[in-house]
Amino acid sequence: MVVFPNAKINLGLYVTEKRPDGFHNLETLFYPVPWRDALEAVPANGEEATFTGSGLVVDVEPEKNLVMRAYRLLQREFSLPNLDIYLHKAIPFGAGLGGGSADAAQMLVMLNHLYKLGLSEVRLAEYAATLGSDCPFFIYNRPMLATGRGEVLSPVDFSLKGYTIVLVKPSFGISTPEAFAGIQPKKPSASIAETVAQPIETWRGTLLNDFEPHLFEKYPLLADIKQQLYDRGAAYAAMSGSGSTIFGIFRSDVSFEMAGCTVFKAEL
Ligand code: C5P
Repeated sequence: MVVFPNAKINLGLYVTEKRPDGFHNLETLFYPVPWRDALEAVPANGEEATFTGSGLVVDVEPEKNLVMRAYRLLQREFSLPNLDIYLHKAIPFGAGLGGGSADAAQMLVMLNHLYKLGLSEVRLAEYAATLGSDCPFFIYNRPMLATGRGEVLSPVDFSLKGYTIVLVKPSFGISTPEAFAGIQPKKPSASIAETVAQPIETWRGTLLNDFEPHLFEKYPLLADIKQQLYDRGAAYAAMSGSGSTIFGIFRSDVSFEMAGCTVFKAEL
C-alpha cells in the first residue's frame, strides 16, 4: 500500500509558557498543504523489516527514522509482520512543515488500515503524540486549532480553498530546539480564531509567529523572503512553525522564484 503524506503550515504561532517537562505550551492553527512525500509498506521479502529512503537525504539511521519508530510502536503492541518500507522524501526537513511527523502519522493510519487494527482517530492521535508534538494533527489532517505541546486539537471551521500557496524553503534548515532556545514565552496578543475569521488582508501585523523576531535577526534572508512575497502581492505571508520555510497566501496564481531557495506552489 502506498500513501502520500502532506505537509502543514502554521497560521499564527504563539509560544505561551515554558512547561516543567521542558516543552512549551503554544497556540497555533495547523493547516494542511499539498507538498507530499510518498510512503509505501509491503510484506517483507526477507527475514527482517527494512527501510529504504530516496529523494531528499535524511541523515538518521533507519531505526531512528520517525516512520520506522511509528511502525515499531504498533508492531510491539499488535505483533505486526515484518515489512519493507519505502519513503521518498520531497517535503524538506528543518523546514517547519512537519514532514517527518506527517510520514509517521500516515504510517500509523496505513498500518491501522492494512491490519484492521480498529484504532479510532483518537487512539491513533495518542500514539502519534508519543512520536512528536505536531504528529497528532496529521492523523486528522484538516484545519485544527492546537494548544498544549501542539497535540491538544480542536477542529476549526475555516478554509483557504481557492487561494494559491507559495512555500519558500531556503537552503538551510532550522532545528526545533534551536528555534525554541531563543524564545521568551508570553500571552498571545490576539485570538487566532478571531483573527482568521477576518478578511485575510487584515491578518498582517495581527497574526504572528513568535519565532520570527529572533530567527529573522539571526537569518536576515527569512525577512527578505517574507518581504518579497508581500511585494509580489501576497495577501498574507509568514514563517511556518519553527522555520525555515516562509509561506505566502495569494488570492490568484503567481509566479515566484528566489535564487538558492526551493519554491513549491499549489492551489489550495
Ligand atoms: O515534539 P517534538 O519532537 O517536535 O519536539 C522537538 C523539541 O522541540 C523538543 O525536544 C523541545 O525542545 C521542543 N518543543 C518545545 N515545545 C513544544 C514542541 C517542541 O519546547 N510544544
